[in-house]
Amino acid sequence: MNSLSQRPRIAVLTSGGDAPGMNAALRAIARTAAARGVDVVGVRRGYEGLMAGEFTALTQVVGDFVEPIPSLRPAGAMGGTLLGSARSKDFRTKNGRCRALQNLRDAGIGNLVVIGGNGSLTGAHALAIESEIQVVGIPASIDNDIGSTATSIGVDTALNTILESLDRISDTARAHRRAFVVEVMGRQCGYLAMAASIAAGADLVLFPEGRTPDEDLVASLADEIARVFGADPGPRRVLIVKAEGVAMPTMELVTSLQDRLDVALPGVDARGVILGHVVRGGRPSYRDRMVAARLGYGAVDALLKGATDLMLAWRPHRIPEGATRTADPSVTWVPLKVMLAETASLLDGSSPETQRRVAMMQAVEGVLAV
Ligand code: F6P
Repeated sequence: MNSLSQRPRIAVLTSGGDAPGMNAALRAIARTAAARGVDVVGVRRGYEGLMAGEFTALTQVVGDFVEPIPSLRPAGAMGGTLLGSARSKDFRTKNGRCRALQNLRDAGIGNLVVIGGNGSLTGAHALAIESEIQVVGIPASIDNDIGSTATSIGVDTALNTILESLDRISDTARAHRRAFVVEVMGRQCGYLAMAASIAAGADLVLFPEGRTPDEDLVASLADEIARVFGADPGPRRVLIVKAEGVAMPTMELVTSLQDRLDVALPGVDARGVILGHVVRGGRPSYRDRMVAARLGYGAVDALLKGATDLMLAWRPHRIPEGATRTADPSVTWVPLKVMLAETASLLDGSSPETQRRVAMMQAVEGVLAV
């Protein structure tokens, strides 16, 4: 066994919007590292804590062995992040990153795992190319807006929470023959709205990649509501799932819609619900825990093999240039630079993956609605 001073040390932080499954990744990182005699240090409050030197041990030495701290044992089942998170403006500056690097060096840490979304992984790439510290990223964002990976930690739990909410709303909507517009998170990406609408059998889905002008939007919603309620006098509902990133504010949309309905379909009420942060909390699903654990294992493995400046990706739709397969058939190393370029094209609509999502939605809309 290595002496205390010789043992490598890995720091880990969670950054940006929290995502269910982040704790499962932390637990997996601590357990994998400990099994290989490596210490893990948690960084509180993401990059903010890294710049302030807020470290906390996630492993401890017991006799001849390194072990995860006991409070990590049940962590896999918990939502949020035990380390806390932050969105840091300061870390985007060279000065902020220099302070962070100095704190890592002072603590004898040569490796860092960043668990977070697009902005957090941009920071990881900057740190990796500006220093000798080995840095790897794990994609975590409920929005599924990270390129070069089929999914990110938190997406599956968020979708299950949305689905549960849409089912509940549908119950009361049918009872009153009402139309509901339900907004789900997704500032720049409509994936959650698209995927949830198919699973819930929604009548319509609005996503930023669709770009419908406001006037057409209200008119087309009113037409659809008239079609559904006109076709059946029974307990029907109209469910419209809207991504947060659609420009028109949800309550403004509902008010305009109600004005139209008052003329065209008197007696039909429209209601709006913004699910907001409800979607980001809660116990992680089986799939998020499993993906988080395998990406966490892969992150430690990559660092101990000397890798840096890469993201652990979960089953990319296509293996990008420069990517490396690992012993786990579902986990691939993707250079952070490649992943960041893919994320930019995912968000500006030029990525084949975005075009595939939009084409698929257009194909199923009006077919899979109930
Ligand atoms: O994590 C991404 C995201 O969920 C976006 O969809 C949403 O707009 C944003 O986080 C909200 O972030 P905050 O909690 O900082 O308001």
